[in-house]
Amino acid sequence: MLSKTIEKALNEQIQEELYSAHIYLSMAAYCDNLNLPGFAHWFRTQSEEERAHGMKLYSAIVDRGGRVVLGDIKKPPTEFKSVLAVMEQSLAHEQKVSASIHKIYTLAQKEDDYATQVMLQWFISEQVEEEASVSQIVERLKLVGEKSASLLYFDKELGKRGKE
Ligand SMILES: [Fe+2]
Ligand SMILES: [Fe+2]
Repeated sequence: MLSKTIEKALNEQIQEELYSAHIYLSMAAYCDNLNLPGFAHWFRTQSEEERAHGMKLYSAIVDRGGRVVLGDIKKPPTEFKSVLAVMEQSLAHEQKVSASIHKIYTLAQKEDDYATQVMLQWFISEQVEEEASVSQIVERLKLVGEKSASLLYFDKELGKRGKE
């Protein structure tokens, strides 16, 4: 059985993941509007993954006899300065999400909730991967520059992203 504290924290994390799905869809729309379908595809895929993360937490709560309670999802930003700015914002967002998962892990340790710790280990590794891939895109974007022809090649490359 889940403690009320952990149940609340996991419900808040569902909210965080669903908001991530929302923010990435908004970023996809921005990239589609810039005629960068590869970047847009990358963000659409990212958005789907975030929803799947939310559902993973949903199941984790249900499996432990807890109750899923959904809240509001706030309006995501819709305007961005540039494609680099979008990627940088996405990196900052992932860093925030990692910190929030680490907080719940510490809480689960304090409560001797081993099952939640094991479940969250997947999320901790996933965050390492996500931060690494977004940070690589940010750095490579700085290398090619936003107004160069290479940006179009880069766009093509991101368009090849499959579902992980
Ligand atoms: Fe996530
Ligand atoms: Fe993420």
